[in-house]
Amino acid sequence: MNAPWKSGMAGNRDPFMAFVCDDLTLDVVRSVCEEMGWPPEKGGKGGLRNAIQSLSVSASPQILLVDLSESGDPIHDINSLAEVCEPGTVVIAMGQVNDVRLYRDLLLSGLQDYLLKPISPDALRDAISHAQMTLNAPKHDDGAKAHQHVSVAVIGSRGGVGASTIATSLAWLLSDRMGHLTGFLDLDVHFGTGALALDLEPGRGLTDAIDNPSRIDGLFIERAMIKANEKLSILSAEAAISSPIMTDGAAFFQLQEEFRAAFEHTVIDLPRSMVIAYPHLLNDVNVAIVVCELTLASARDTIRILAWLKANASHCQTLVVANKVSTSALEISRKDFEGSIERKIDLMLPSDAKVTAQAAKLGKPVVEAARSSKLASGIASIAEQLKNAAPEPSQSDAKADAKAAKKASMLDGFKTLLVKKPKSPAA
Ligand SMILES: Nc1ncnc2c1ncn2[C@@H]1O[C@H](COP(=O)(O)OP(=O)(O)OP(=O)(O)O)[C@@H](O)[C@H]1O
Ligand SMILES: [Mg+2]
Repeated sequence: MNAPWKSGMAGNRDPFMAFVCDDLTLDVVRSVCEEMGWPPEKGGKGGLRNAIQSLSVSASPQILLVDLSESGDPIHDINSLAEVCEPGTVVIAMGQVNDVRLYRDLLLSGLQDYLLKPISPDALRDAISHAQMTLNAPKHDDGAKAHQHVSVAVIGSRGGVGASTIATSLAWLLSDRMGHLTGFLDLDVHFGTGALALDLEPGRGLTDAIDNPSRIDGLFIERAMIKANEKLSILSAEAAISSPIMTDGAAFFQLQEEFRAAFEHTVIDLPRSMVIAYPHLLNDVNVAIVVCELTLASARDTIRILAWLKANASHCQTLVVANKVSTSALEISRKDFEGSIERKIDLMLPSDAKVTAQAAKLGKPVVEAARSSKLASGIASIAEQLKNAAPEPSQSDAKADAKAAKKASMLDGFKTLLVKKPKSPAA
């Protein structure tokens, strides 16, 4: 049986054992062992295979370090290890493969962490102290029923269409008005406005998470997130413009996992550039809200984003919201826009600069600053629709070919629109 590891049943076991594949790693492991006051021979050679053999006949340690370098099928081998490893052991793996999918799958198999070789003493010390924190953390009630979780991503089809305005208001509604424990993840790492809109300091939580994905756990979430109201916590950043995002996306995966455990709803302000760089971000999202404007550029990019979602995140329920809709001087009519994207717009939100300015001045989301406005009630109806969102796990993306063909036909529709575009501005 592949029993997931559970922390906190340490008993009288060895505090640490390591099974590594090469001398260089063994030296690092033994020197850190000595620092920790553990016998250096607790670090031995043999890798994962030896770990399985050894643990099938002896008690498991509190912390187990295994080297996957010689494993042809790490996930399979880790599952074999789970069969012989007693519950309560915190397992850290290391290997030479730098692949976020492997990292994700290993964590799903119950590993605490995956270290990339060659490992440094610092990285190993960090991983061990993190494992010790897990062992010492207060235990959750294992009998408690897992709660349902709905994750919502808000994606603007163009810059400035109002995606963050809607995301912030949604998070507020779900938490303050509907009473759900909600986590707001502002993934606009450099220019995010989630904290600003709620009159909060963004803090360093998100940048710390990106820099140290292995530190992300329940405790980290509790400490790094900023409370916006009793039920709403926000994780955001205002990263220096000179600091590009340096991550393979592992941090975002880990954050989503922790949000799933800690909250009933996750709202992600998801810039479209992040979708390109980290497509796996959508894997665990239940509802994708694509915010657009009734413009040609927005029609083109809404088509492309919807096609991408169909091909790569077909499990997502998709809502199309047209924002900043004015009663006059529309670049494209609703009918033409819908014809172009080959589906209905789910919701039209009015342009109302007075309301958004008022919200900005008060440092409150639109739905709080101007509760009775049409804009606020429109956003509230999105929150209502989320009630029907099924928190289903990801499904297969087997129909990719058909979807690519569909995408081509949608872009053809868009070209027809271009032909219809008036040469001079409409009167
Ligand atoms: N319905 C609306 N009517 C008028 N102004 C609006 C409306 N929605 C948003 N705005 C304003 O548009 C501006 C851009 O909004 P916001 O930051 O939410 O857009 P965004 O899509 O997140 O932009 P970015 O691409 O920079 O992330 C803000 O000043 C906001 O107040
Ligand atoms: Mg934004």
